[in-house]
Parts: sequence; C-alpha cells; structure tokens
Amino acid sequence: MIGLFDSGVGGLSVWRELYKVLPQEKYLYFSDAGHCPYGPKSKEEIILRAKTITEYLIGNGAEIIVVACNTATAASIEYLRGNYNIPFVGMEPAVKPAAINTRTGAIGVLATKGTFKGELYLRTLHKFASNAKVLEQVGEGLVELVENGEVETPKAKELIGRYVRPMLEANVDHIVLGCTHYPFLEKTIREIVGDGVEIVNPAPAIARRALQVLQERKRSSVQEFGQNTFVTTGDNMEVLEAMVGEIAPDDYKGFVFRKIEI
Ligand code: DGL
Repeated sequence: MIGLFDSGVGGLSVWRELYKVLPQEKYLYFSDAGHCPYGPKSKEEIILRAKTITEYLIGNGAEIIVVACNTATAASIEYLRGNYNIPFVGMEPAVKPAAINTRTGAIGVLATKGTFKGELYLRTLHKFASNAKVLEQVGEGLVELVENGEVETPKAKELIGRYVRPMLEANVDHIVLGCTHYPFLEKTIREIVGDGVEIVNPAPAIARRALQVLQERKRSSVQEFGQNTFVTTGDNMEVLEAMVGEIAPDDYKGFVFRKIEI
C-alpha cells in the first residue's frame, strides 16, 4: 500500500498521477485539513504532525510514504527518513527544469513560506539556478482557496493576478508550482499568464520516482483489486470527495472516505 499525506487536498495532485499509471495499487491518502495550512507553521510543529501521520499510515499498512506536500517535505523528510524504516518520497521544488529551460533567464516560483525557508529549496536554488533571475512569491491564501473549492472564482483570479503580475513584468517564461495545492489552480493561472509561460508542476516526476522506489522493493504481487481510502482530520470531506470524483469519475464510488481525529 502507498501512503500519501498533505495538509489537505493538495497531495491529490500527486495521487492523480500515481493513480493514472497504477490504478490497481492500494492507496491511503491522509488529508490533515484539521491542521491546514502548514505554510506558516514552525518546523517543529510540522515534524510533530508528520510523525503522527506517518505512524497512522504505517499502522494501516503503508509500505512506502509519499510526502505529497512541499512544506512538509522541507520540514520533516530528513527526520522521517532517519526514524522510520520504510522509503519516503518527498516533493522537489521543480526549480531545476525551469532554470535549465528558461530562454529569458527569469523564472518565477510560487510556494509557501515554509518551503522558501527550507534548506532543500535553498540548496536547489544554489545548485541549479545560480544563473537565473528567480522571482519568489509566497502564495498566501491560495491553499485556503483550494481547500474551500474556490479555484475558479473572482477571488482566486484577483489573488493569483496579484502574485504573478510582477513575475510577468520581470519577463519570466517559467512559473514553478512549489506547492501541491497549486496545480488545482492551473486553469486560472493559465488564463492570467497566457500561453507564453510554462507552468511547471512537479507532480508527474514525483509520481515516477515513487513508482521507481516501489519497483526497487521487488514485491512479488500487485494487489488484484485496488482500494483507495481517503481520510481527513478536517471538515473538508465534501471538497475532498468532489476532487477525487473529478480525478476518477468512473471509480470513486467504490472508494472509502473517512473523517478521523488524531
Ligand atoms: N500542499 C502543501 C505544500 O505543498 C500546502 C502547504 C500548506 O498547507 O500551507 O506546500
């Protein structure tokens, strides 16, 4: 079983890539909406949540955990890898492909405060983007829009416009989505930035990495019948179900959705 977790529904952008290529696998998705957003939280607070969630996922059969949240990866992946004996796949800020492929020499990164503060981001920046001009923007309020199912509203347009306009003025040709919630805002972002800007979503690459890790574990059999379970600590069940339903319209009625308190 593959466990995934995020502060809310954002990690579904990674689950949908995995589900596309491996629909027969078992997934346990943990939405920590009762503690969302993670972005402004301290590293210590996030590690505590990551520990609780990891133990829940392992206790329920997860053999590999995808930390489907950039902020949680930044704060806790080293701790998790050092303390639990299963593989963890974390989110990488996709600065590398943007910095390699830019023609204008300017790229934009949208992420949470926690991700920008993390060592992982700073290291990636130093390693791959020292020649590019990088415009960083904290996406304050965007996670909440996705959690509330307000992705194509005037409010979303106004906020995104405010965040990406300075990037466009600086002539960026790539905008990196450094938070797993943001791919669900891609349509609105696209409307504002037009066709000339590449929007970089790292989720497919992270899903490929998770598959590779799974194969390395050389499991003898794949489950014959898939089962997808989605748990949440928050009150976002309606939005969670609706988003899963959009991703897997033919299958989601057989999925399990549960509210939990931990
Ligand atoms: N999906 C999380 C991320 O990738 C959102 C963080 C938050 O809850 O602020 O960073």
